[in-house]
Parts: sequence; C-alpha cells; structure tokens
Amino acid sequence: MGCQMNEYDSDHVGRLLQAEDFKPSEDPSKADLILINTCTVRDKAEQKAYSLLGRMMGLKKRSPDLLIGVMGCIAQQKGSALFERFPGLDFVIGTKELETVPRILEKLAREGGRVVAADLTKPSVFPDTSPDYFKNRVKSFVTIMEGCNNFCSYCIVPYVRGREVSRPPEEIIKETKKLVEQGVKEVTLLGQNVNSYRSGGSQAEGGFSSLLRKLNKIEGLLRIRFTTSHPKDLSDDLIHCFKDLDKLCAHIHLPLQSGSNHVLNSMKRGYSEEHYLDLVEKLRRVDQDVAITSDIIVGFPGETERDFELTLGVIKKIEFDNIYSFKYSDREGTLASAMEPKVPFQDRATRLQTLQNLQKGITLNKNRKLVGQRIEVLVEGRSKRGNELTGRTGSNKVVNFDCESELLGDLVKVRINNAYPNSLKGEFVY
Ligand code: 5AD
Ligand code: SF4
Repeated sequence: MGCQMNEYDSDHVGRLLQAEDFKPSEDPSKADLILINTCTVRDKAEQKAYSLLGRMMGLKKRSPDLLIGVMGCIAQQKGSALFERFPGLDFVIGTKELETVPRILEKLAREGGRVVAADLTKPSVFPDTSPDYFKNRVKSFVTIMEGCNNFCSYCIVPYVRGREVSRPPEEIIKETKKLVEQGVKEVTLLGQNVNSYRSGGSQAEGGFSSLLRKLNKIEGLLRIRFTTSHPKDLSDDLIHCFKDLDKLCAHIHLPLQSGSNHVLNSMKRGYSEEHYLDLVEKLRRVDQDVAITSDIIVGFPGETERDFELTLGVIKKIEFDNIYSFKYSDREGTLASAMEPKVPFQDRATRLQTLQNLQKGITLNKNRKLVGQRIEVLVEGRSKRGNELTGRTGSNKVVNFDCESELLGDLVKVRINNAYPNSLKGEFVY
C-alpha cells in the first residue's frame, strides 16, 4: 500500500525472502507468510490497512501456522500497539528494519511469540541486488534518498521515515546497472525530496543534477524519471537537465499543495504562489512540452472559499497535465492537526469534487492536443484487455495501441488517434 517508496521497500524484502527460498503467491489463503506494507499518509490509507489486516486475521483463524507481519509507515508509527488491535499478528517491523525480516522469521520459528522491531534511529540499509529478481520487468524504482527534513505542517512522513539520508552515487549507479543487466529499461529515482539529494562535495559535484548526469551515461538504460521534487529547492541546474540529458523523461511531479500564499505559509511549504509560477515558466522555457503534474490538498485548516478559489485560479493558469488531489486529513502529532478552524468535512468533499472536475477537463484537453502526433512509447506489456500493447510516453501518459508483435521493453513510435481523460489510443507506426 502507499507510495512508490513502499513498493521499493516491498521488493527489498521480497529479495530477502527469495534468498530464504520463499516464493510469491497470488492467493493469500495459500500463503505461509503474509506481510502487509502499510501507509499512513492520510486517514483513508490507514483505515484501508486496518481493514486488510482484519481480513487477514480471519485467515489466521483457519490456519494457525500462517505468519502475519506488518511493515511500513503504520508499523513504524504504532509499533507494538498493533498487537492489541490484532491479536493474530506475529511481527511488526519499522521503516528502517527491513533487513531484520529473515532473523525475525527464524526467531519466530524457534521460539514462537511476537516480535516488534521499529527503531527509527537505525541507519538506512539499502538492498543488495540479487540476480533475477527483476527479470521480465521493463521499469523499476531506485531509492536515492530516504526520509525528510521539511516538516510540512500536515505531513506524517518525517515522523515515520526519519531524517534525510542520501545514498552514495556509486551505490545508486551499481544498482541501476544491475537492473539494466536484468532487462530493466527505465528507472524512477525515488526520494521524498530529490532536490535536496547530496552526497559529499559541493552541490555541483554531489547534488542531484550531478547524479542524473552520471546515470544518463549508463549503457542500455533508455529512460530516467524521478519523484518527488520540492518547489522550494528546485535548482536551475536541474531544470537544465531536461534540455541536456537525452534519457531524462520530459515530466516533473512538482507538488503545489495550494495556490494561496496564506495556506502555503501555514503548511510551512517555504515558497509562494509567485515562486511556483516562476518555476513553471523556467521549466517551459527549457522544454515547452515538459509535462508538469502536481499534488493539491483541499480543506487545509483555515482554508477559506477565497483561498480555494486562488488554488483553482492557479490550476487554470498553469494547466497541469494531471493533479493528484486529496482532502486534508488530520495526522496525529503533526502541527496542522492542532490548527483551527478545521474545514467541515462536507466542504472538503465539495471542494475536491470541484477541483477534480476542473482538472479532468484540462487533462482531456491536453491529451486531445496529442491526437495526430507520432510519439515515442516505451512498451510495458499487454493492456488490461489483452489485445493491445500498453506503454507510456516520456511525459508519462498511458498509450494503448494495436500491434501483432511482442515489443516488450522497446521504444516504439505510435501515432495517437484518440484521447481519453486517463489514456491515449494509437497505432504502431512501422
Ligand atoms: N492530508 C491530506 N493529504 C496529504 N498529503 C500528505 N499529507 C496529507 C494529509 N495530512 C498529500 C500531499 C502529498 C501527497 C503524497 O499526499 O499532497 O504531496
Ligand atoms: Fe505513505 Fe508517506 Fe509512508 Fe509513502 S512515505 S507509505 S506516502 S506515509
């Protein structure tokens, strides 16, 4: 559950378990071990995890030998308190404890009982690249930094992922090369705030753009993406990478959160609406077609109708390619959870609907502009319906197209014939 960082962590543990002779199972009722990787970014994510855990506890009643563990952000935040709520739970591991899984399983097999390991002060451990794990995958994630030092007032992440730690570039390059050897063509570099990536030396030598320039040289790697950028420290150097680096995809996810300076201030975001508009202009000056996507929170404490209208105004002005929008949700221990006045739930829901309707039209318009164009697509597999191939443009838009041949992992040209709100349809151009 949760973000791409969690997906990466699940694979980290997957690799450890593979080394212990575990095999993945599609059917939880046949599994010997169920490990749920949880998210607590909003209340909805937290409730979803509890409900899944509840269902898995039902399986445990039928097969008492089944082991059930919880990892991820809820595990980090709640620790052993989860045992009270879920009596069938066997172990809880925090976000810095992934490497302990084999030892915990061994201990449980030997002594039974229950184990919790959730020490956030432990140093980050990144995975070893085990052979074959990523075979048959076209794209993969690579975490380049963990944690966050920003403490935006609404956000739980710094409390459950700890302080920022950047990985040395050599490690990142090694991992990427190993992925490429296994057939991966596209990597997405992950960090809560990749713009503050720093590994020794000066910003020029040890910063994020320098890392991108190094990765751009890896032979066999076709595409590089990254997420997430923070507008307060998006550098000109990084903006120029969109022009300089042929493998860097023309897409940036740049969370705005709100278009009102008053709200941005209480969110402690560290930039103004004007600064954000400036960044968009700079990005578009370097690459007119760069896709820009964003996150918006509606109904932050103290957000007035006027503030919300300012957000709508900025959205109209910028015309994002897409927006992920959320109703504000109180997170225990954050500054915003103590802020008043809270926006009534009904108003949060209405504002979200208004914003999403507005963005739907903008996204569709943007997609329609691509009709008739020949666009490069990295083929990721068969579409859900099975008779088409599916892939993404550099700007991260999903394209489905008819094609007889299997072109998995190839960069192909597709002519776009139809545009929909969430995807494009086209035909393979020989
Ligand atoms: N309430 C609602 N949305 C939130 N986000 C983070 N914390 C909260 C919260 N407490 C959103 C932000 C962030 C995205 C990952 O989740 O928009 O960018
Ligand atoms: Fe969820 Fe944030 Fe944890 Fe990712 S880092 S799993 S979004 S709480």
